[in-house]
Formats: sequence, C-alpha cells, structure tokens
Amino acid sequence: MSNRENWGSKIGFILAAAGSAVGLGNIWRFPYMTGKMGGAVFLVVYLGAVIVVGLPIMIAEIALGRATNKNPVGAYTAIKPKGGWKLVGFLGVLTGVMIFSFYSVVAGWSVGYFFKAITGELNNIDSAKAGEIFSTFVANGPWQVILTGFFILITALIVVMGVTKGIERMSKIMMPALFVILILLVIRSVTLPNAGIGLEFYLKPDFSKINPEVVIAAMGQAFFSLSLGMGAMMTYGSYLSKKDNIPSAGGWVALLDTSVAVLAGFMIFPALFSVGGIQPTEGPGLVFQVLPIIFSKIPLGIIVGPLFFLLLILAALTSTISLLEVPVAYLIDERKWSRKKANLVVGLLTFLFGIPCALSGKFLGLWDLIWGNLSLSIGAFFIALFVGHVWKTANALQEISQGTKEFKLARVWAFWVKYISPLIILLILLSKILSSN
Ligand code: TRP
Repeated sequence: MSNRENWGSKIGFILAAAGSAVGLGNIWRFPYMTGKMGGAVFLVVYLGAVIVVGLPIMIAEIALGRATNKNPVGAYTAIKPKGGWKLVGFLGVLTGVMIFSFYSVVAGWSVGYFFKAITGELNNIDSAKAGEIFSTFVANGPWQVILTGFFILITALIVVMGVTKGIERMSKIMMPALFVILILLVIRSVTLPNAGIGLEFYLKPDFSKINPEVVIAAMGQAFFSLSLGMGAMMTYGSYLSKKDNIPSAGGWVALLDTSVAVLAGFMIFPALFSVGGIQPTEGPGLVFQVLPIIFSKIPLGIIVGPLFFLLLILAALTSTISLLEVPVAYLIDERKWSRKKANLVVGLLTFLFGIPCALSGKFLGLWDLIWGNLSLSIGAFFIALFVGHVWKTANALQEISQGTKEFKLARVWAFWVKYISPLIILLILLSKILSSN
C-alpha cells in the first residue's frame, strides 16, 4: 500500500481496526488464559489493564501512525532518524511475523474444526470424547503443518492481491453475525444445569490468587487482544483521515474488542463447569473442547457449529491480515521490495516458525508467551516512551486535535503516556523478578 489511501470514513477505520483486534485473541486466548490464571481475578486485572495501559497506548499508536503515515520502522525514523529507535520498529516487525506463525496454528485448528463440525464428528459428544478428539487432532503432525501452511497461504494471497479492503468489507457483515451467535451461545451456556458454578468462577474474584504471573498475563492479553505493542494500530492509523476523531475511534475499537472477549468467557465457563470433565486450566485446547459440547446441547447445533467456526476463521483472517501487513508494509516502504516478493518471503519465514508451533504444544505455548505477551509489552513500553519523550505529547496532541474538537482528557492522557504507562508496564514486567527474592 505504498500509495496511501484513506479509509472511507471513521466507521470504516473502526471496523477494520476492530477486525484486527477481534480474533482468536478474544475467543481462544482470553478464555484459556482466564481459565489458567484463576478465573474472575484474571478478568478483573485484564479489564483494568485495558483501561490503564491499553487505551492510552491505543491512542498513542494511532496518532503516531497517522502523523507519520508510515510502517513502524518508518514512523520512528521519520521523527527520530538517529539513535536506536529504529530497533524498536524492527522488534515490531519481527513480532508481527512470530505472532503470525503461532496464530496460524490455532487458526488452522479452527479450519480443522469447521470440517469436523460439518461432517458431524462433533455431534452429541461428551467431554471425554471432546478431549479425545482434540488430542488426536493435534497429534497428527503432518495435518497440523498443512493446516497452518494453508492459513498462512490464504492470508498472503489476500494481502498480495491487495483485496484486504474486500475482506474488511465482508467482515462488516460477518462480525455482527459472530456477535449474534456468540450471544446465543452465551444464553445456552448460562442456562445449562449448574451454570452457576462457572459463573462464580468467572465473576467472583478470589484476590488471594493474584500474583505477578497473573498480572503479567493479563497485561499481555490486553495488548494482544487490542493488537497493540508492535505497530499494527500504527499502520492502521496511517490510513485514518485527518478529519477523524482518534480518541473516540480508539475507544470504540477497545470497547468492541473487550465485549467480545468478555462474552467468550460467558460462553465457555458455565458450559465447562456444567458438563465437568474438562479443567479450566486445560490450556490452549480449552475452547476447542468446550465448544462442541455447547453445540451438542442446542437445537440446530449441526448448523450453528460450522457457522460459528466459519465466522471464527474469518475473524482470525482479518487479524492475520493485520499481522502480515506490518512486515510487508515495512519491506515495501523502506526496502523498496515489490508487494509480491515481500509477501512470499514473509509468508515462508512465518511458515518456517509455524512448523515447530504446529508440531509441539510446548513450543506453541512458549512462542505465545515470548511474542504474544512479553515482546508486545516491551514494544508498548517503548511506544509510550517514544510518544511521551521523543516525539513529545504536545506534538501528539496537535495531531490528535485534528479531527477531535474536544479531547477532554488531553492532559491526563499526556501525563499518563509520559509517566504512568511506561512505569506500570515496567513494574509489571519486573514484578516477577522483584517478587522472587
Ligand atoms: N488482536 C488479534 C486477536 O485478538 C491478534 C492480532 C492481530 C495482534 N494483530 C495484532 C496482536 C498485532 C498483537 C499485535 O486475535
């Protein structure tokens, strides 16, 4: 996208950015993290992280992207040609590739489960059977690698043909559909026998369970789910028009994204505790084991199941498009590569790292932790420092004021981005080290 176009309207940007934000992070990662990290306590810290570190960084990233009209590396160098800031941009580009690699494995699971749902393999199963189906599925190495490669290929084909706008237009219809199905599934889940146990797990925080690991995970989940910390929102911001209101656009994206995640929790936990046999601490396979059980318990589950996985695949696709777009935009803008070559090379590199993720759950978890959590948190830390102290919040506010008649929290935001956000991120990242002696 070297010749920059603008989004048709603010709503166009919101939907595209929400398309990037809403994905497996909400439906797959959030419930599995919540289950692993103690339930309600994680939900509370996560919501806090969205507001305290997510929103301010969201506004900072969009403003930086719109002001510079660049990919992350270009954005830093446009403002500060010298110094190490370029490296932070590179970290973002690298993080994009690495998240894309493990993300594609889980997106591949969604494709696999779509077929399982269509062929009726998931019909009327209990939790033992659901667990068995999942472990047999992921143990099939060649099939896992094929599904992962397939998803990377589809994403690259869309990005190379430049039809991302078409996909985003399509997601304008499909995302509301996902939302509606999600709500229907939530209704079914919370009306199952003993749903109360799951609701209690999800909503009644036990603050004695709070520890550095929970807080680090919740902050990382906030960045991951909002697509922050590596420059994806920067890239999207670079396509936003000067007439548009950045804080309100960013706020809407955060609200939509967070609602989907919270709903996903309401879908998974009551069902999980209702049927029993699956532990909330199950890990990355959690959602894929619980969902078929819910489909088995609704009328027309045989139709709703495949439809749900289809919409999940589309939600994942709008996210992988944004992940791929960052390294591709960098190679095109800064290295003058052709769009084709950039897609081919990044796609192959992603596949290379996707293979170990597809073959080993341990590696997948490790990659998710390093790139999906730590690297994004480090990236967000540097974005706050850069906007707060190098670009300076006065310039950022000048950019924001274009299109925003009144940003009531301007001064709070500026202070926050300068001092509070970087400090909080740093303390949270260090909390594990600090608390271990
Ligand atoms: N936010 C997406 C999700 O929740 C994943 C994603 C897309 C992402 N682009 C990103 C995460 C950029 C971090 C950075 O599924």
